[in-house]
Amino acid sequence: VATESAEKAVASQTIEPLLLRAVRGEKVERPPVWLMRQAGRYMKVYRDLCEKHPSFRERSENVELSNEISLQPWKKFQPDGVILFSDILTPLTGMNIPFDIVKGKGPIIHNPIRTAADVSQVRDLVPEEAVPYVGETLRALKAEVGSAAAILGFVGAPFTLASYIVEGASSKNYSNIKHLAFGTPEVLHSLLQKLAVSIAGYIRYQADHGAQVVQIFDSWATQLSPVDFEEFSLPYLKQIISDVKRTHPNLPIILYASGSGGLLERMAQAGADVISVDWSVDMAEARKRLGADVAVQGNVDPGVLFGSKDFITKRIHDTVAKAGQHKHILNLGHGVLVGTPEENVEHFFEVAKGLRYE
Ligand code: CP3
Repeated sequence: VATESAEKAVASQTIEPLLLRAVRGEKVERPPVWLMRQAGRYMKVYRDLCEKHPSFRERSENVELSNEISLQPWKKFQPDGVILFSDILTPLTGMNIPFDIVKGKGPIIHNPIRTAADVSQVRDLVPEEAVPYVGETLRALKAEVGSAAAILGFVGAPFTLASYIVEGASSKNYSNIKHLAFGTPEVLHSLLQKLAVSIAGYIRYQADHGAQVVQIFDSWATQLSPVDFEEFSLPYLKQIISDVKRTHPNLPIILYASGSGGLLERMAQAGADVISVDWSVDMAEARKRLGADVAVQGNVDPGVLFGSKDFITKRIHDTVAKAGQHKHILNLGHGVLVGTPEENVEHFFEVAKGLRYE
């Protein structure tokens, strides 16, 4: 028996996580599954923890807390990917851009950046010095999870980060950043360029500390028209991805934007291994438009988790059938919504993990 469990231990160390094998296009038994925002307010254990630790920055910048929160969904649902609990804004303090996340209001940037003089105050990120807790949490997660699931790191894309940095908060119309983009584009480009350099370094840092896949969130890139996406987002995504691939050629990169139906082909030009698709496009059409080389992630509407268990099951089957038999990571099209019944998330994972390709 002892030998058997030792053998099992060796096997579990040598077999790579399903998610990595699927991204590489290996023949796998089922699509791997994880959910954006799988840790968070829909979980009671998270809400309880928030009562003791009401500051978002404390929860995301303290190794013990961010580790515990990242593992909450892992312990309950055993997803195939465990994402670091952090925020796309987390590295900003290290770039001399202080921020806070205020309950009910969302992210607040105390001194929004809108001029060339403001941009000159932005410092390059040195992750080891500015965000050592991110590396420590990733290492702890890798040690805990082993090869039973893939550890996911993530970053914000330059345009999406800039949209917070320039607006100063979440925005409806993106007037300030568009004022900059269409009034003094050279100022916005100099900010985006600085962000691209720091974010590339930040991805490398995460990979060197245990992240096996990194997702780039360009959530608000779809506020740009396609020609403006080609000017203000795509070049920086390309730059980051090619820069990272020079030193980390085997690190899979996932690219996500919210409402990306109109941008899929352009997103694919960025050079990511996986395009994360939201529900604004049918998965069968997304697969056709993106071609067979790239993997797809998504794309169940998070609102589906408010439906009945049968309805959730149907939507999972529908998405998986449309994505085809390979290179698909099952996920939602955006993060789990606040108020989602936990048992429905549990059902989602149970159904997903019970799937078998023919
Ligand atoms: O997916 C995960 O489980 C990892 C955790 C994660 C968080 N933020 C934790 C968080 C991830 C991947 C993010 C990324 C992020 N942050 C994005 C890109 C993804 C997306 O949703 O489009 C964006 C745009 C942000 C900026 C941000 N941070 C917003 C808009 C908010 C919501 C503000 C609010 O009050 O609802 C945050 C705060 C935040 N980040 C929360 C969580 C769980 C909610 C606040 C809390 O739990 O206290």
